[in-house]
Amino acid sequence: MADFLLGGQIDPAKHERTATLTTVPSGDFTTHGVIVGMTGSGKTGLGIVLVEEALGAGVPALLIDPKGDLTNLCLTFPNLAPADFQPWVNEGDASKAGQSIADFAAAQAKAWTDGLASWGITPDRIAALRKNVAFTIYTPGSNAGVALNIVGSLQAPTDVSDAEVIGDEIEGFVSGLLSLIGIDADPLSSREHILLSNLILNEWTAGRSLDLPGLVGMVQQPPIRKLGVFELDQFFPPKDRTAFAIRLNGLLASPSFGAWMAGPALDIASMLKTPDGKPRCAIVTTAHLSDQERQFVTTLILSKLVTWMRRQSGTTDLRALLYMDEVAGYLPPTAMPPTKKPIMTLMKQARAFGVGVVLTSFGTFFCAEGLGVDWPGGDLALLYVAVVVAGVAALQVASLARPVAKVKA
Ligand SMILES: Nc1ncnc2c1ncn2[C@@H]1O[C@H](COP(=O)(O)OP(=O)(O)OP(=O)(O)O)[C@@H](O)[C@H]1O
Ligand SMILES: [Mg+2]
Repeated sequence: MADFLLGGQIDPAKHERTATLTTVPSGDFTTHGVIVGMTGSGKTGLGIVLVEEALGAGVPALLIDPKGDLTNLCLTFPNLAPADFQPWVNEGDASKAGQSIADFAAAQAKAWTDGLASWGITPDRIAALRKNVAFTIYTPGSNAGVALNIVGSLQAPTDVSDAEVIGDEIEGFVSGLLSLIGIDADPLSSREHILLSNLILNEWTAGRSLDLPGLVGMVQQPPIRKLGVFELDQFFPPKDRTAFAIRLNGLLASPSFGAWMAGPALDIASMLKTPDGKPRCAIVTTAHLSDQERQFVTTLILSKLVTWMRRQSGTTDLRALLYMDEVAGYLPPTAMPPTKKPIMTLMKQARAFGVGVVLTSFGTFFCAEGLGVDWPGGDLALLYVAVVVAGVAALQVASLARPVAKVKA
């Protein structure tokens, strides 16, 4: 077990760093973590420090990056030379500082050299990180980085014995796919969801892989005749199935969809380790995607992570770290977007498999504090803010809940 150095404590009176360092044993992250703060307070910065500590200890990291801030992890310069910084510094920042780009880059190089040295971080540590870790930026739906073959994720799994694991993975794929064509489907009542899920399950249990064009074809000509106790044609008439297939086909026919089928297949094991066993830092950037596409990709990756995780043996130490920046839209208190289920599953089950989950989000308390609100009672106000938020959430749940039909005895 390694100790992750996350920072140093500050003397609150002098606002200066003390000699007391803040370290957290790696194993503690198997019970997960949340980083909350107002915008610009350094949440992502802390996340990057944590990820680098994990990578340095040989723990692979999977990062979901909806804002595109985490790609900076690739900017590691063992020589800390001005020329290394120059291509990356911002022209606007240089002119604001009244410096030429070269001078500004030199100043940045010095600031980083001195700053890192004050933490005892020497260039050889940066070199070791670069040498021992494979950094990869995945850009699903785009060839700007490494594309991810999302449709390849319909590859039949090697082991279909655990019905719950397979069911969750299929649910993640189908929910995400339907959200991409604007269908907000309930897995238990939506006939689109039920049909697609059964088609995939039917193929997978027979050991056959699928691709999206094949799936669309099956919507029109399903190889199964019954769904539950109903005849398929009664449950989902052919005319409606054709309309549904046309909607799915629209996705396939869109010129931009080709990029979703490029690149390596979405495979968590190879995203976490290179073939020769080196840990990877897999940065999945979704900043270029629409909200629906982002939901689709994030749901798929998380469901695949759940499936991968459940196949690992038990451990008490950290085996892999999942870091999600800006998690708010993926884990709302009242709504149930497709991403929420795999995140909740990871939160509940990942500990036993040594998978740590760290999420960042802005929070009501800290945002208001940042805007200058003086909470009565200081940090204790967190308690009543939590009660108020829980109360509002409960009211929203009550107002959104569908009435349950009464069954006559
Ligand atoms: N510990 C720190 N000490 C000094 N500066 C920091 C620290 N952490 C972050 N910063 C700087 O503060 C700025 C904002 O940091 P960061 O992007 O991590 O904030 P954030 O909370 O993730 O913001 P957002 O909500 O906009 O994503 C950056 O310029 C970063 O370099
Ligand atoms: Mg941030």
